[in-house]
Amino acid sequence: MPSHPTVLLTGASGVVGSALLPQLSDCHTIALTHRNPVAGVAEQLAGDLTAPRLGLDADAYRRLVARVDAIVHCAAITGFTMGPSATHALNEAGTRQMARLAEDAGSVLYHVSTAFVDRTDLTRAQLGQDQGEATARPEDYLDSKRAGEDVVRSSGVPAVIIRPSVVIGDAATGEISAFQGIHGIVNGLLRGLLPLVPLPAASPVDFVPQDLVAGTIASLIRQGRREGEVWITAGTNALSTERLLQVIGDTADELGLTPMRPRMVGPEMVDRLIRPVFIANLHPRARRRFDDMLAMTALFAHGHVFPSSLGQLAGIPKAPSATDLEAALRTSVAYMARAKGMLRHLPEPAFTAEQVSA
Ligand SMILES: NC(=O)c1ccc[n+]([C@@H]2O[C@H](COP(=O)([O-])OP(=O)(O)OC[C@H]3O[C@@H](n4cnc5c(N)ncnc54)[C@H](OP(=O)(O)O)[C@@H]3O)[C@@H](O)[C@H]2O)c1
Repeated sequence: MPSHPTVLLTGASGVVGSALLPQLSDCHTIALTHRNPVAGVAEQLAGDLTAPRLGLDADAYRRLVARVDAIVHCAAITGFTMGPSATHALNEAGTRQMARLAEDAGSVLYHVSTAFVDRTDLTRAQLGQDQGEATARPEDYLDSKRAGEDVVRSSGVPAVIIRPSVVIGDAATGEISAFQGIHGIVNGLLRGLLPLVPLPAASPVDFVPQDLVAGTIASLIRQGRREGEVWITAGTNALSTERLLQVIGDTADELGLTPMRPRMVGPEMVDRLIRPVFIANLHPRARRRFDDMLAMTALFAHGHVFPSSLGQLAGIPKAPSATDLEAALRTSVAYMARAKGMLRHLPEPAFTAEQVSA
């Protein structure tokens, strides 16, 4: 890898891509943009990974092939409601295009997958559980991401498969380009709207701050790593559901909000006892929201711990401690509360701390 490589980044406007951009300051980065342009990048190229040749004309494609040293492939459909064909069109067929580009360019492919490929057998659909009125189909996303990995492995190009767990905001600021499923739960708790979380108290919820994900990918490129599978997860340090909810509740208290301290109930008990009595009587929209949450939380319910490569491979960051994770979670909760205008009603202090102590 040259010391100042040319890196093609897909998905640059997304959560991971936008966190990665500032970490690639020693590279010449070309962002392949789709609908949203991005700021702070040397060069942008509009394209569409579901179109032949990434939507580029033959000349533009040839010019790109001649320049690229490394590809970081982040573009994906990450939502659970787009349906299997649109999801596979980008996450599987789009990945095939990136593998072909890597082959044409003789470059390394850093393919961003997900740790949840490990949990395709834990969806409610796979477990034969009642999906109620859920519109979220995590199975489409997980199947497409697993298929995307198969494409990369069978392509024969030098490739590193990168598997983050749930990505939360920047550890220092909480900033994130779009709120994720976990923020939806935080939002419900902070607004006092979520009396029950369908997870056992002991189930680990593995999340990692976006800057840790970005820093790890940037170090893999800097090292010129050309193969392997890299799990960017908290692993055994992941917080339990109980601790996660406690930290969220305590942070909300500190922010002067009145959060919900929800009950934690495993999905089997929800189906057996709570669904027939309470959920069935909810407004249809609330019922759908609950079933969507259940579809997502099912992936955490069975107590599995992800492997982690952090600290295990030379030159990449070490795993965050539980204390680091709690601090990052607090920062993310505060960022979201501020961004969603939840703190607006709080009166400004009459005196600042400095004025009081002066
Ligand atoms: N966020 C997480 O918690 C998380 C966790 C584990 C793994 N991952 C993986 O990390 C990667 C990045 O995820 P993310 O959360 O950053 O995604 P994201 O925020 O949903 O962003 C998706 C990106 O894909 C681009 N895109 C969508 N359709 C496209 C198309 N047809 N052609 C080209 N680009 C297209 C989008 O561009 P426009 O906005 O311009 O359409 C956007 O930049 C994904 O592979 C995801 O599976 C994410």
